Amino acid sequence: MKVLVIGSGGREHALVWKIAASPLLGKLYCTPGNPGIGAIAETAALDTGNHASLAAFCRQHRIDLVVVGPEAPLVGGLVDSLRRAGIRAFGPDCAAARLEGSKSFTKDLCARFNIPTAAYGCFNNAPKAKAYIRAHGAPIVVKADGLAAGKGVVVAMNVEEACNAVDACFEGAFGAAGGQVVVEEFLHGEEVSFFCLCDGKTALALGSVQDHKRVGDGDTGANTGGMGAYAPATIVTQPMEARIMQEIIQPTMDGMAAIGAPFQGILFAGLMLTPDGPKLIEYNVRFGDPECQVLLMRLENDLLPLLVAAADGELDQASPEWSDDVALTVVLAAEGYPHMPRKGSVIDGVEEAAALPGIMVFHAGTAMENGRLTANGGRVLNVTARGANVVEARAKAYAAIEKIRWPQGFCRTDIGWREVERQKPQ
Ligand code: AMP
Ligand code: GLY
Repeated sequence: MKVLVIGSGGREHALVWKIAASPLLGKLYCTPGNPGIGAIAETAALDTGNHASLAAFCRQHRIDLVVVGPEAPLVGGLVDSLRRAGIRAFGPDCAAARLEGSKSFTKDLCARFNIPTAAYGCFNNAPKAKAYIRAHGAPIVVKADGLAAGKGVVVAMNVEEACNAVDACFEGAFGAAGGQVVVEEFLHGEEVSFFCLCDGKTALALGSVQDHKRVGDGDTGANTGGMGAYAPATIVTQPMEARIMQEIIQPTMDGMAAIGAPFQGILFAGLMLTPDGPKLIEYNVRFGDPECQVLLMRLENDLLPLLVAAADGELDQASPEWSDDVALTVVLAAEGYPHMPRKGSVIDGVEEAAALPGIMVFHAGTAMENGRLTANGGRVLNVTARGANVVEARAKAYAAIEKIRWPQGFCRTDIGWREVERQKPQ
C-alpha cells in the first residue's frame, strides 16, 4: 500500500513510525513532515489547503490511504474533498468534525442524545451570557465556540473574571471562534483523555491517557498543547471504561449516525471523572499530541489495517492488542514556550538518547540546518519510553533526556506524577 500522512508534529512522527513498520506498506509519504519523519518517509511540501492539488498528488502517486493528523484540515473538509475524488482517507468529514469544530454543536448533541456533560448555555451576545453567569455564580467556565487552538477556554474563579472572558470573546480575542460563547458549569473531579477508533458505526476503545497541560512542574504556569503524557491512566478501571463506552462514546456514535454525520476516525474525549460519573468536557476529532505517542508505543499489532478498516467501515472485524507496559512521554520545549519560543538553537545527542532500549525520540518542531538538528518551534522533541510500570517508564524517559545536549531547551520534571502517586503503597 501507498500511504500519505498529513502533519508535522510528534503525533505524525509516531503515526509514520508505526505505519512504516507495517508489512503491508509499499511507500510512505508525509507532508510537510519534519526531520525525524524525513528519516523514515518521503516528505513533500504540499499545500494542504489546496484540496484539488492534494488530490492530484494522491492520484499521481497512487495513494491508497491518506491519514490526516491535525484538526484544521479535518474541520476544513479535506476528507470530503479526497473522498469526492475517490481517494480513501482516514479521519472525519467536515460534518462529523463539528464535534471538535463547534462546541455548541457538541453540547446540543449531548442534550439531544442524553450524553452526560456540564450544564450550559450558548449565547451570541454578551448581556445574555453575563445574565446566565450572574444567575449561576462561580466557579464557571467560558468558552469561545469555534476552533481557537486550545486557547478559547477560561475557567473563571469569580463572576467578574467570567464576564471579562465573555467581553474578550465578543471583542474578537479568539477571532471568528468567539462569535458565539458557551458558558458552562464547572465540573469537579480528575480529568482524563479517552481515545476510540471509529468507522461510523463501531467504536473500538484505544484506552486512556493523562496529559500535562500546564508549562510548569506541579501543574503551574500557562496552558500549553501538552508537556507530557502517559498511558494507561489506571484511574480508568475496566468498569469505568465500560461506563464511558456505554454512556458517552456509543451514544455519540449512534447520535452522529442518526443526524446523518457518522463519525469515522479518532474520537478523543476529554472527560471529567466526577462524583456523579464520567462527564464529557470536549471532543477532539483526531489523535492528541503528545497522547498519540504513548498510545502507539503500547500498540502491539499493525496499525495500517486498523486505519484501513476504520476508513472502510469494517472495524467490527478488528481487535487491537496492547502491551502490558506503561508508556510515558516527556516534551522538550524551546525556551520561551508557550508565549515566545526561541528558534534556531542547536540540539545534540538525540541519536544517543534514541539508542537506549525502550526509547523513541519523536520529532515535533525540529529543523536541519547545515547538517545539524535545530529547534524550529515550541514543542521540539518527545522523549518516549516503555517500562513495566510508570516509575520505570518515567526513569527511562528522564535518563534518555540526560543524553540530549540542548541548553536552550526545557522540560517538566514531574510527568506522570498522578500515576506515580497512585502506584505508591497506601
Ligand atoms: P477544553 O479546551 O474544553 O479542553 O478546556 C480546556 C481545559 O479547561 C480542560 O482541559 C479542563 O481542564 C478545563 N475545563 C474545561 N471545561 C471545564 C468544566 N466544565 N469544568 C472544569 N474544567 C473545565
Ligand atoms: N494534547 C492535547 C491535544 O492534542 O489536544
